[in-house]
Amino acid sequence: MKHSVAPSILSANFANLQADIELINRSKADWFHVDIMDGMFVPNISFGFPVLSAVKRYAQKPLDVHLMIVDPDRYLRQFQEGGADHIIVHYEACTHLHRTIHAIRDLGCRAGVALNPHTPVMLLHDIIADLDQVLIMSVNPGFGGQQFITNTYDKIRELRALAAGRNDRLIIEIDGGVSADNTLDLLKAGANALVAGSSIFSASNPEQAIAEMKSADPREIDL
Ligand code: DX5
Ligand code: ZN
Repeated sequence: MKHSVAPSILSANFANLQADIELINRSKADWFHVDIMDGMFVPNISFGFPVLSAVKRYAQKPLDVHLMIVDPDRYLRQFQEGGADHIIVHYEACTHLHRTIHAIRDLGCRAGVALNPHTPVMLLHDIIADLDQVLIMSVNPGFGGQQFITNTYDKIRELRALAAGRNDRLIIEIDGGVSADNTLDLLKAGANALVAGSSIFSASNPEQAIAEMKSADPREIDL
């Protein structure tokens, strides 16, 4: 299965979001990655429902909504109504993760769990069969433009091994410090969805940056 590329609109131009949404529509990207931050779970505040709905109005691709908020159960329905197609909650923010995941699925959305850099993938052992996607944070969540944490490669391999035979269709998504430079290594380790914010929107040609990430082929042999 070809990997997915999800530009993070956290790095888009908020003064002209429509132009950047249309750019993503035109590009080879697969999803819009939408980062919701509450100033509690992470030391930053991004945006909420009105902005999500405005993105949904113009977006022609699924919205991959990453909730960096405490107690996300309070708002799942509102995110679904606001246009989320995938809802990703943080392992560290959920007391009853199994209940939360099934609540997301009951809303008709794809359900995902995100792991902070310090959270071991083994903690997903008893929930992995219920998940559509796992998002491995490759920076500490809260801000775009941070440096990629290289331990992520080991986590991807461990997670792929954990999913083998339990959930072979699991999407492993990587978020933070991702660019065309580490795309191939991430895919080779077993990732199949890549989020990128600053590397795409600070590129002189963002559509080209997306196309470059999309065209990477992990089956190519290094010569
Ligand atoms: C960080 C967010 C990311 C962020 C990635 O907390 O979850 O989605 O937008 O930004 P870059 O690609 O710049 O690291
Ligand atoms: Zn994110």
